[in-house]
Amino acid sequence: MILKIYIVFKIYKENCFIWINLIGEIIQKDITSSEILGKIVFPSHEIQKIVKQLGEKITIDYKNKDLIIICILKGAVIFFADLIKYIDLPFSVDFMSISSYGFKESNSGIVKITKDLDENIEGKDILIVEDIIDTGLTLSYLIRNLSVREPKSIEVCTLIDRSVRRIADIKIKYVGFKLEEKYVVGYGLDYKQKYRNLQSIYELKTDTIKKDIELLKATLNK
Ligand code: IMP
Ligand code: MG
Repeated sequence: MILKIYIVFKIYKENCFIWINLIGEIIQKDITSSEILGKIVFPSHEIQKIVKQLGEKITIDYKNKDLIIICILKGAVIFFADLIKYIDLPFSVDFMSISSYGFKESNSGIVKITKDLDENIEGKDILIVEDIIDTGLTLSYLIRNLSVREPKSIEVCTLIDRSVRRIADIKIKYVGFKLEEKYVVGYGLDYKQKYRNLQSIYELKTDTIKKDIELLKATLNK
């Protein structure tokens, strides 16, 4: 009997969750019906499920450790905010903001730290939270930079791993989703600083990027 009540409650709870997410999508219809966004790649209920699983795994792995979770601004902020709610441990958080040195240098792996950590990480267990890892150049620079500060350990948790374009050889301990060549926006990920507020992750229509790349090339050739 108790088991039956539990199962009914669980089904009810999960359906409610999907409904709440669906209502959220409908409210956001003005943005999602734009010319720029393509299909949903990862729906919000799927994202929440994966984020919860990641949080639970991190909880097990970091028991009795001196953990600092670092959010890489701005893209990881929504993922980070959801993820830490599922980590049932005492830990501190810190933020870091980085930007690449522009179009020509974007493959050099040289990034500028625009906001550094507030905390001293020496002797601490560090978990870096990223939105998406593409070439891996940004992250490998970051890991090198943080290693100098002598933390006890550094691990990485990314919502999306797009390994097809990987250049830097990096170890990623926690991965939410794997993705092929698509450029995606939503749930923190941006295109020209927009669309971070979408609850699901959407594909960007390729025409949009093509036009931008052509424009960039034309400007550089002038
Ligand atoms: P990487 O150095 O090539 O690994 O670049 C990773 C960073 O580029 C991510 O942290 C994102 O900020 C950004 N990025 C890469 N791919 C995408 C995407 O599909 N959508 C939005 N941002 C992206
Ligand atoms: Mg990022």
